[in-house]
Amino acid sequence: MARAVSIKDVASRAGVSTATVSNVLNRPDIVAAATRGRVNAAITALGFVRNESARQLRAGRSRFIGLVVLDVTNPFFTDVARGAEDLASESGLAVILCNSDEQPTRERRYLDLLEEHRVRGILVTPTGDNPERLEEIRRRGIPVVLVDRHAPRGRCSVSVDDVLGGNLAIAHLLDMGHVRLAYVGGPFTLGQVRDRHEGALQALKHGGLDSSALHVEKIAGLNVASGQEAAAALLTLPVGQRPTGVFCANDLVALGVLQELTRLRVAVPEDCAIVGYDDIDFAAAAAVPLSSVRQPRVQLGRAAAELLIEEATGSPNHTHRQVVFEPELVVRQSSSMTRRTGAD
Ligand code: RIB
Repeated sequence: MARAVSIKDVASRAGVSTATVSNVLNRPDIVAAATRGRVNAAITALGFVRNESARQLRAGRSRFIGLVVLDVTNPFFTDVARGAEDLASESGLAVILCNSDEQPTRERRYLDLLEEHRVRGILVTPTGDNPERLEEIRRRGIPVVLVDRHAPRGRCSVSVDDVLGGNLAIAHLLDMGHVRLAYVGGPFTLGQVRDRHEGALQALKHGGLDSSALHVEKIAGLNVASGQEAAAALLTLPVGQRPTGVFCANDLVALGVLQELTRLRVAVPEDCAIVGYDDIDFAAAAAVPLSSVRQPRVQLGRAAAELLIEEATGSPNHTHRQVVFEPELVVRQSSSMTRRTGAD
C-alpha cells in the first residue's frame, strides 16, 4: 500500500515550510494568497488528506462525540440521534453512534472504546448496569450526559418524565371505561420501564383501583417480537381476567401487540384498546393508528448534545443540570372507543 502523503511532501512540492502548510490548513487567513494558492495546489496534486487522529493527539481535542443508544433499530433513537447530530454539526463536531442492544457488556465495550479515542464527550441512554464506569469516565475528564434517563443532582441528563407518561396512559384507559388493564414492558432493569410502570400504578390508585387491576406482562426486550409474544400470552389468561386495555412500554412493543391481536381476530379497539409510548412515526401509520405517549425525541437529542458541548468547551455558563421534558398523550383509533359493556 502506498505511503500516505505527508505534510512534508506538500511543503516540499509547494516550496514552503511545514509550518506554512499547517497555517494554510488551520489558519489560512494569516497566509498570503499566493502562498496559500501554491500550498492548496500541492495538496490537490498530491492528494493530501490531513491526519485528524494525529492532530487530535497533538491538540488533545477530538472533534467527535459519542452517542450510545439502547437499540439502533428503534426509531425513537433515530430521532434522538437526529437532534444530537444536528447540534453537533452546528458546533463543527461529528457523532459516533454505538448500539448497546440493551446489553451491559456491549455498552461497556463502547464506553471503553470512546474513552480510548478521547472523544469530546459521551451521550448515553444507559442499560443501568455500568454507573461506576460512567463515573470513572467523568472523573477522567470526559463529560457524560444521560439521555432519556434522569441523572442525580450534580450530573447532566436530559429526559422525559416517564412516571407522568405512564400515568397519562393508564388514566386515559380508565377514562375510556377499562378496569382490566395490562402493562407490557421489560426488562425492568431499564429505568424507563420501571418509571412507566410506576406511573401506571399511580393512575390506578388515583382511580380508586389497586394494583391487581393491572396485569404486568414482563418481556425480555422492547421490540415488536416481544409485543407479539406478550399479546399471545395475554390471550391465554382466563376470559374474565383478560385485559380490555393494554399499555405498552414503547411503540415497537405496542405494534407487536396490535399485529398479534389482529392475527388472532381480536378487534382493536373494540375488544382490546392499546396505548404505546414514544409516538414514533409508525404509530400514526399503523393499520389501526396507535395511541401513544409522545416523547419530544429530536428535542431530547438536541438538548443533550447542547449540554454536553457546553461542558466540553468549558462554557462559563455551564452548570450540571437535569433537563426534564413533559410527555403528551396522543389519542388515536387504537384506544378511541369506550369499553363495550357486557363484553366480558
Ligand atoms: O429503548 C427503550 C425505550 O426507552 C424507547 O422506546 C424509548 O421509549 C426510551 O425511553
